[in-house]
Amino acid sequence: MKFELRDITRRFGDRIAVNAVNVEIPQGQMVGIIGRSGAGKSTLLRMINRLQEPSSGSIYFNGAEVSSLKGRALRNWQRDCAMIFQQFNLVPRLDVMTNVLLGRLNHRSTTMSLLKIFSRDERVMAMAALERLGIEQTALQAAGTLSGGQQQRVAIARALVQAPKMMLADEPIASLDPLNAKIVMDALRDINEREGITVITNLHTLDTARSYCERIIGMAGGRVVFDGPPQELNANAVREIYGSDRDGAGIDETMTSTSLASTRRGEAPVAIDTSGMMAEAAAMR
Ligand SMILES: Nc1ncnc2c1ncn2[C@@H]1O[C@H](COP(=O)(O)OP(=O)(O)OP(=O)(O)O)[C@@H](O)[C@H]1O
Ligand SMILES: [Mg+2]
Repeated sequence: MKFELRDITRRFGDRIAVNAVNVEIPQGQMVGIIGRSGAGKSTLLRMINRLQEPSSGSIYFNGAEVSSLKGRALRNWQRDCAMIFQQFNLVPRLDVMTNVLLGRLNHRSTTMSLLKIFSRDERVMAMAALERLGIEQTALQAAGTLSGGQQQRVAIARALVQAPKMMLADEPIASLDPLNAKIVMDALRDINEREGITVITNLHTLDTARSYCERIIGMAGGRVVFDGPPQELNANAVREIYGSDRDGAGIDETMTSTSLASTRRGEAPVAIDTSGMMAEAAAMR
């Protein structure tokens, strides 16, 4: 099994968010996508599960084109690539168990979905997923009352019961403290290794990508400027991905982002990430 992006481009008006990306990913890889804010990481992930449509190019899974799927077939594809977000995207007022069961919705008929009737097997499956992530004791609690780290684990449990072929994670640890970040990354790695589910995750720190991913894709200005194992990511590659000041644009300036991410990125940790990154680049010189 393999997954392919062929010449994928996405434009927003005059701006090219993703520019002619070609990537082939064999089933079961753990891939980290890194790059500055605005490099096109989220847009790329969102095109994979068709939350956003490419302007041109095509996407294939096992030789079948997924970029042209519609209706039921499209929903099946979206079920096959579960998505995990920085802000967890749970329904805060529903209990944890129900949030996890929502991952089963695409496996059933519309009527059953509307009625939110879940089978005993599905409940057992959801409970097993919660146990696996070490949060079974929260099953009856409203999701909104959990800590960020716990909520992200619920989101992963929800993704797991979807029985996906790929898990796409858009900065899954950007809102978490280091301990919870480790728990979440360990969980993704475990799922990747034990179930052979391909994991593609956007990460904003280089060290996380290095320690968890067997393959790193570096993006800059919508293009893939690095694609290889972490040990090949040398100082030059890091510079190419994160840029220097040669174009007059400071790193801090380009770290500003849209929507929810902007408030978080405006906080101190951004400066820390950036300097850490630059220190790492300097050390490798
Ligand atoms: N819906 C949209 N409408 C207009 N422009 C957009 C839209 N989504 C993304 N863009 C633009 O496309 C470019 C890539 O954005 P994208 O969100 O993919 O970057 P990113 O690498 O995920 O950045 P970050 O690290 O801040 O999350 C940016 O210039 C962004 O402003
Ligand atoms: Mg993003």
